Amino acid sequence: MILITGGRGAVATNLSSLLRADGYAVRIGSQRPEQLPTGVPAVACDLRDPATFAAALDGVTSVFLYAEPECSTEFVSAATKAGVDHIVLLSSSAVLDPAAVTNPVAKSHLDAELGLADAPMTVSVLRPGAFASNARGWSFAIKADRPVSLPYPNAYTDPIHERDVAECAHALLTKPDHRGGVYTLTGPQTLTFTAQIELVTEVIGRTATIAHVTPDAWKQEMAEFIPARYADGLLDYWRRCDGVPTPITDTVTTLTSHPARAFTTWLEDHAPEFSA
Ligand SMILES: NC(=O)c1ccc[n+]([C@@H]2O[C@H](COP(=O)([O-])OP(=O)(O)OC[C@H]3O[C@@H](n4cnc5c(N)ncnc54)[C@H](OP(=O)(O)O)[C@@H]3O)[C@@H](O)[C@H]2O)c1
Repeated sequence: MILITGGRGAVATNLSSLLRADGYAVRIGSQRPEQLPTGVPAVACDLRDPATFAAALDGVTSVFLYAEPECSTEFVSAATKAGVDHIVLLSSSAVLDPAAVTNPVAKSHLDAELGLADAPMTVSVLRPGAFASNARGWSFAIKADRPVSLPYPNAYTDPIHERDVAECAHALLTKPDHRGGVYTLTGPQTLTFTAQIELVTEVIGRTATIAHVTPDAWKQEMAEFIPARYADGLLDYWRRCDGVPTPITDTVTTLTSHPARAFTTWLEDHAPEFSA
């Protein structure tokens, strides 16, 4: 039995479909299992609440784990007791940043990795770069025909499709070949935010424009959605990616035997989200 945590997440949802289509026995753990689609084998699993761990892990041999460091000691201990022999952690390439310990976004992933460092079972770590789905944050402005506020329009990221991240997790959970490794995943191309917005216009067929704002103005605009320290972490990261292309890896190809999906594929797959 495979436990997929963070059940309502995009990667978890794709991974669950892939494993179930292949006939694997899966259980989907979520903070809100009642919100999962009917027919999904759901269980309460809140990674910040150890009281939920034993029932979620009963009879489980492998786990797909979202990075939540708060109760990782308790999670490893419950997983060990349940007989889990493999955990695939969804971490982030942000941990590779020299400033990772001072950046709250990177540090939470670093702490999640450290929480598994002494785990007795095999641990595989996926470190994706920026998700293509971050573009969803622009959809509200685009749908309202407003410019997208960007503090660093020339910052580069490496947008990766959630389906590719899920397929990499699927490969690690179902094949012995790459188990136990640490994998930095990227999309197939490094693109500035400006280039990504241009692709939105091209693929969605709706003109997307940019307002180049100051970091402080962006932080203020996002205050309702992003806590200040995380906003500072993102700003710090983008400042260092400004004009600096992200190194691209071929790890998606290594794990899945096909190249990573283009950012335009993600836009095509999610086009309705950009239309009013
Ligand atoms: N965004 C990036 O650029 C990036 C880059 C590298 C790594 N990552 C990692 O990937 C993770 C995001 O993965 P993802 O895209 O699969 O997740 P997601 O779709 O953003 O969902 C994240 C988590 O939030 C909970 N959730 C989902 N829908 C929710 C809702 N409607 N209300 C409240 N909570 C909800 C889910 O867990 P429950 O079902 O248990 O509530 C889920 O695991 C990040 O947290 C980070 O660790 C992200």
